[in-house]
Amino acid sequence: MEFEKIEIKPQTAVIQRRVEEVVNTLVRGYDEVMGRLHLGGRKGDYDDIHYEFNGGAKDQLRKKHYDKSMRLLWKAEDQAPWLGFRDCTAEELTLLSMAEKSMNREELRELKRVRSEEFRDTIMTEYTERERQAIVNVLSLIGHGEAYAWLVSTELLNEVKSTGARSALTMQVLEEAKHFVVLRELLEAFECEIPRMSIYEYLLLERGFKSKGVEKFFAMNVVVEGFALGLFGMMSTLPGLEILRLFHRDESRHTALPTNYLKEFPLTKWQRRNLFARVHRLSLILPLVPAVALGEEDLAELGIDAFDFAGATARKVFHLSDRVGFSFPIPTSVLTSVLNVAFNAVASYTRADHTKKDYLQAETTRGKEELQTEAEVFGLNRGRTPTEAARRASEASYKSDARPAA
Ligand SMILES: [Fe+2]
Ligand SMILES: [Fe+2]
Repeated sequence: MEFEKIEIKPQTAVIQRRVEEVVNTLVRGYDEVMGRLHLGGRKGDYDDIHYEFNGGAKDQLRKKHYDKSMRLLWKAEDQAPWLGFRDCTAEELTLLSMAEKSMNREELRELKRVRSEEFRDTIMTEYTERERQAIVNVLSLIGHGEAYAWLVSTELLNEVKSTGARSALTMQVLEEAKHFVVLRELLEAFECEIPRMSIYEYLLLERGFKSKGVEKFFAMNVVVEGFALGLFGMMSTLPGLEILRLFHRDESRHTALPTNYLKEFPLTKWQRRNLFARVHRLSLILPLVPAVALGEEDLAELGIDAFDFAGATARKVFHLSDRVGFSFPIPTSVLTSVLNVAFNAVASYTRADHTKKDYLQAETTRGKEELQTEAEVFGLNRGRTPTEAARRASEASYKSDARPAA
């Protein structure tokens, strides 16, 4: 390449650089002092000297979350053409049309219309009006949860350290946005009233959103996403709801994020032992008990025992909490027993022929693939049940917490 060079005086460039160096020292020095005094300072948590975000590269986090999310990125136009999304690129549409034996755009549009009617027929013939309303009521729980997952992950994006973690959270923000808008259209297609959040869900999500720093990981990636994982795993085998498999796959990645992040940036002793934080975590999950009781009628309509679902979800959430190091004022093994007593008490009140059951051992995830995904997320391949693993981790954590601080 031949450039027509412009001649400038070499001395002026030197002066420009020196001036910049002086201004640089003054501005950064001022920002550093103000930062140390907690009076402001640099806002961007970015290390331009090393061309990384503060915290370093952390490529493992990037590979496990950002790269994987990109690989598994799915488009609603491809997976649920009847919903009216136009998110495929021209190349993807060409590939799709090739898959549809080289149809032209007009024919593809017609195919989508037919599929849309097929989808409508499927849900109208497979379910009664009451069942459709029950599906909408149950899925709207997580529909509202997706809105908060979007809000929380957007805030967390600015609170995590390292380039790897930021790229992971960026993908989560994108996926939560997709979950929210796709699930909303899916529910609207059921032509039923979409209910507001129950007050129990409102309390959980609002308080989770207000949690500080990495506690947001507990509220969102452990509790809300653990709940979402269970719900999608339970509903994805129902006719017309197969797309929920893809939601389930994304949520499994989101529930693994706190573990992978805190491996790189472990919780401090204070964060682990802080009694206020432990009590806050417990108080955060408590509204789930009346929320489950409230959802019992709709789940029963779909042949699902609400307490089986609640027990399975609680077991998974406790397992995730123990693994990450988010402890409660009492060990999860004790919480497990307390919840079993509470669920049995409510069930004996709401059911005519209730017999005592260990709800915390139930499994409501139905799809084979989804069970496999959860086995990977919860480390079940190592031959332990989640409850056993959680109990050991919990007890070990309490033993080490009992020691005086070093
Ligand atoms: Fe989500
Ligand atoms: Fe998520």
